[in-house]
Amino acid sequence: MSEAPLFKSSGALAPEGLPDISQWEFWNTERAGRPAAWRILRDIPGLPFYPERVFADSPFDPGPGYFAVTRHDDVWHASRHPELFCSGKGSNIIDLPQELNEFYGSMINMDDPKHFRLRSIVSKGFTPRHVSAVDEQVRAKAAELVDRMIRDNPSREADLVSTFSGALPLEIICSMMGIPAADTPNIFEWTNTILGVGDPEYGGTYERLMEVSLAIFAYAQALGESRRADPTGDITSALMAADVDGDQLTPQEFGSFFILLVVAGNETTRNAISHGVKALSDNPEQRDRWFGDFDRHARTAVEEIVRWATPVIHFRRTVTADTPLGGQPLRAGDKIVLFYESANRDERVFEHPEQFDISRPLQPAQVGFGAGGPHFCLGANLARREITVAFDEIRRRMPELRAVAEPDFLQSNFINGIKRLPCRW
Ligand code: HEM
Repeated sequence: MSEAPLFKSSGALAPEGLPDISQWEFWNTERAGRPAAWRILRDIPGLPFYPERVFADSPFDPGPGYFAVTRHDDVWHASRHPELFCSGKGSNIIDLPQELNEFYGSMINMDDPKHFRLRSIVSKGFTPRHVSAVDEQVRAKAAELVDRMIRDNPSREADLVSTFSGALPLEIICSMMGIPAADTPNIFEWTNTILGVGDPEYGGTYERLMEVSLAIFAYAQALGESRRADPTGDITSALMAADVDGDQLTPQEFGSFFILLVVAGNETTRNAISHGVKALSDNPEQRDRWFGDFDRHARTAVEEIVRWATPVIHFRRTVTADTPLGGQPLRAGDKIVLFYESANRDERVFEHPEQFDISRPLQPAQVGFGAGGPHFCLGANLARREITVAFDEIRRRMPELRAVAEPDFLQSNFINGIKRLPCRW
């Protein structure tokens, strides 16, 4: 078990007698206690207030602290009232200078109308129609990866993440963005570092994060320039040529967009597939039911996998005007953190939330892709397609696939990541 990296913390103390979700241990070494901790926080009146922590080597100081939003209704309300709970001051817990906010987050750290302008440019690439157009590609890529897995592992054992669940979303988003196949290993490493920043395996320091961010930004600029000169029909070419009300993306806007799309397209779906394989291994009766009549259950099973996995644990909002939330009076400027992981286990909304059930009704909706509102996941249709096809290929080619050891989890309070999952078929 690895040691906690060094942090500096804001002065505020965690609420007495409640689980301390600001502690590194809560997210990493004590992970099994999370469901019970979220239940305690959902059941107290109002919203608990927590201190912030940043890496010891970060040039930024921790902010004043944040209110934790853990109930489904409250996550739903805040997501759908961006006029009261804005994203423009950042969507991660710590405050960054505004330029860095936009550099890292692009439109996820913006409010309308700026957010709307950027989202309109790229959303054409992610409509259900467009996603069906890449369907064949997803199917071919999944089949190729399964072939390779079977061919390269005569012992019928392999790590699922490096052979399949990590490779599929990576190769699809790279291909949609027009990134040459030879560069995909770099993209994999870069996005791992950006989202795995708290995990010592991926660097774990602020300095390393900056190094990789600059490398990916420079890569994006070069690719963008070559597509501007010679468009090839991919999303990068579309972004470079985009014309919304006479505007084009600035090089800075394009670079940030590029980072958002490759990170979001890569580090989320991968974990949904890995958690899904683990859940089906732990619940073989669910696997038999789904694989016995795949198409009938696919829609609900995929939604249940995303609820179960909740690959993105939280996003932050900032309060714009005094308002209550969940019985808690809030003041303009307060930070709130929407914990999708807790909302997706809220017993007020889901019957037996601790059970993995591939036939769970679609309503009330799980919030793994967000809870509606302007920032709802742009890639949700693509991710659903990738997850469906991934499990369909597993069903057809290796229906006996199951996890044979506990996952090696990413150390993070933001991404519910699985770094390795040993499997047998
Ligand atoms: C299972 C897979 C995925 C999960 C769980 C997931 C989750 C999320 C969440 C929670 C948000 C924020 C929602 C909010 O603030 O209301 C988000 C936003 C976003 N996601 Fe995903 N995502 C997934 C896959 C993808 C894929 C494949 C892409 C493709 C590039 C993508 C692109 C984006 C973008 C661009 C945004 C920002 C949207 C905006 O600010 O308007 N995501 N996602």
